[in-house]
Amino acid sequence: MNVLLTGGAGYIGSHTCVELLEAGYTIVVADDFSNSFPEAMARVQQLTGRPFPVHQIDVCDAGALDALFAQYAFDAVIHFAGLKAVGESVQQPLRYYRVNLDAALTLAETMARHGVYRLVFSSSATVYDQSNPSPIDENVALGASNPYGWTKYMIERIYRDLAASDGRWSIALMRYFNPVGAHPSGVIGEHPGIAPNNLMPRAINAAYEHRPIGVFGDDYPTADGTCVRDYIHVCDLAQGHIRALAYVQAHSGAEAFNLGTGVGYSVLDVLKGIEQATGIPANYRIEPRRAGDIASYYADAQKARDALGWRATRTLHDMCRDAWNFKVKNPEGY
Ligand code: WQD
Repeated sequence: MNVLLTGGAGYIGSHTCVELLEAGYTIVVADDFSNSFPEAMARVQQLTGRPFPVHQIDVCDAGALDALFAQYAFDAVIHFAGLKAVGESVQQPLRYYRVNLDAALTLAETMARHGVYRLVFSSSATVYDQSNPSPIDENVALGASNPYGWTKYMIERIYRDLAASDGRWSIALMRYFNPVGAHPSGVIGEHPGIAPNNLMPRAINAAYEHRPIGVFGDDYPTADGTCVRDYIHVCDLAQGHIRALAYVQAHSGAEAFNLGTGVGYSVLDVLKGIEQATGIPANYRIEPRRAGDIASYYADAQKARDALGWRATRTLHDMCRDAWNFKVKNPEGY
């Protein structure tokens, strides 16, 4: 089975490349490297011993994408490519709507033109209305709270309408909770980026540099007062995509799946996990709440278990250990 991964050089994309190659799939990666690194692709080939084509392509470029589909016979597509920073999307909404929606539309039009109708889409738990109590299942009310989340919401709507209009389509909408960690080899991982926003890379960087990390509020209605999230190991997430590929081969229509562990951990739980994984005492200070944060947010992961035969298996310790291992081996990322 030959699979195209758009955005395959990114954090989740590169880990999915490894799982696909090791499961015997042939893959092609299309990435514009605007938020990823060619080095990640070299690392994937080093890790798996399996070469694969990598094309520097903007998915919004209909001509380039069409040429790629003319060059290869794809059985399915996993669509990762897109802008993904929540805070940045608030500052640059037009750019986020243009890029993410244009890419999703251009890809679907090109797929149809070439008779490819199996699609796994990288969506997000940010499509859920934040007023929903956790655990959150796939049927609760939708409603994003930032332009990034709205682009995912709109793309899900577009793909659902597409599948409803033509029975040849089969589309899995993968709603990620909080992806963290790295491949246990430490060869690939989450590039720290210039100024990461998310807790795990910020906490790992702070531990590595022996400086404190700010905890954004400890007065939430949770067990220890800090926010609770559903952190999921990126390798578990990648394996969820393998199962989704099998699902779209055997079904038609559009279906959403949560990719989460179903377990919530607080900010302080994560910092303790990093302390246990690194031996470096947690060093933090309580700071004011971050605007837009909600107290508790974690998945009901039952549907993916039932329909995909998938569940997350890696623990918070695994996530912290593997994130640290990648940092130690790659202090400046790729
Ligand atoms: C987790 C908790 C912070 C940093 C992200 C984005 C998006 C989505 C995954 C794709 C919060 C606290 C953080 C720090 C802290 N991915 N924190 N100090 O808020 O769930 O949002 O979820 O769709 O990337 O929506 O994750 O890692 O940013 O924050 O105390 O230095 O850690 O306040 O409570 P979040 P996060």
